[in-house]
Amino acid sequence: MNSLAVELNAALEGTVVPRVLSDLGLRMYFPRGIVAQAAEAKEKAHRFNATVGMAYADGHPMTLPLIRELTNGLPSEESVAYAPTAGIPALRDRWKTEMLRKNPSLDGVATTRPAVVPGLTAGLAVVGDLLAEPGDTLLLPDLFWGNYRLMFGERRQVQIREFAFFDDDGVFNRSAFAEGARSAAESGKLIVLLNFPNNPAGFTPSTADVAFIRETLVGLADSVPVVALSDDAYFGLFYDDHAFRESLFSQLADAHENLLAVKVDGATKEDYVWGFRVGFVTMAFRGMTSAHAAALEQKLTGAIRSMVSNSSRLSQSLLLRALEDSRYDEQKADAYRLLEDRFHTLQRILAEQRSSGRAPMLEPLPCNSGYFMSFRCRGLSAEDLRLALLDRGVGTIAVRNEYLRVAFAGIDAQGLPELYEEIFQAAEALA
Ligand SMILES: Cc1ncc(COP(=O)(O)O)c(C=O)c1O
Repeated sequence: MNSLAVELNAALEGTVVPRVLSDLGLRMYFPRGIVAQAAEAKEKAHRFNATVGMAYADGHPMTLPLIRELTNGLPSEESVAYAPTAGIPALRDRWKTEMLRKNPSLDGVATTRPAVVPGLTAGLAVVGDLLAEPGDTLLLPDLFWGNYRLMFGERRQVQIREFAFFDDDGVFNRSAFAEGARSAAESGKLIVLLNFPNNPAGFTPSTADVAFIRETLVGLADSVPVVALSDDAYFGLFYDDHAFRESLFSQLADAHENLLAVKVDGATKEDYVWGFRVGFVTMAFRGMTSAHAAALEQKLTGAIRSMVSNSSRLSQSLLLRALEDSRYDEQKADAYRLLEDRFHTLQRILAEQRSSGRAPMLEPLPCNSGYFMSFRCRGLSAEDLRLALLDRGVGTIAVRNEYLRVAFAGIDAQGLPELYEEIFQAAEALA
């Protein structure tokens, strides 16, 4: 094992981290080579700096005139230059400030500095590399974003254990979660991944449910190391008072010495910049010192360096400029209101469906947040319904042939009644 990895593991000794790291995670480190030498050169190489793999002209990173024109005159340092491996420092700090603003419970809680990754997918993949070992068990609700199967089931070869997300009353299924967590923990290590607002249901549990999740995980952390991953892709899009308004991470970051909380979030969905590919990974555990955080960040930075080297400078620069702009809050609130309006239109359509008895084979799952809603298809193939809808010029997603997922956030409010009329008609015609 590289001596730097040995040093990092020693710095983390006695904490939950070495107990949950994969073999790759234990071997991971951030090399001092190029980065340290380039930093030294920045200080001392006042004549010629020939360290970094970028072409320079007149002291600035070279740009084709076309690119300069297309990036609207942005300095080439902000457009085409490489970003640091874990992201632009000012952006990382700004994201942390935003995180505290959105999650007041994190006030005074030590976390790592958010590390930039190219989207939440890359964040989850990096975290999977570091923390999931082939043969580990990952607890997921039975409604989850399908890519987890590729990322964790296939790439990391973990066993996926599902729990029923909703109970018969259509609320978060506490007993199924507790039972699932207990049985997954029997393997000697528990990894749980929760995504609120959930894809595909568009559901976020209540404050009391989140307290229950915390209590369950804290109880298990007394006997097994726990990794709790929060996928906050759709964070902030909460449309009713039932939904817990902070990230689950805010309740877990300082919950137990034996529980490593990991937050994967990003601007992709939250700030409506999907193709920017800017996400963040932040970690915490109770009792984490700044030396622990630094060692953990080094492991994370090494994992990023070995996977993607660094994330898009242009996207990070634009995001940072937007976050620092005085118009940001207002514009974000406008975008939220637009989606909230779509949610309320959807609620009216579903209330009408209920009262009129339309398409009884389509049972809407609880939905209070996010981009999506789903119907459970009773006695009807979701795939047949999806294909029938395609013939009507309507695109939806069939999940496991049992659920039909509708991305209502992608449709103007005026279009929603017609969209749902097509869905009801197609389901009735198939029944
Ligand atoms: C729950 C969830 N997490 C993560 C992602 C991926 O986010 P990103 O585009 O930032 O990789 C998605 C995208 O569909 C998602 O639904």
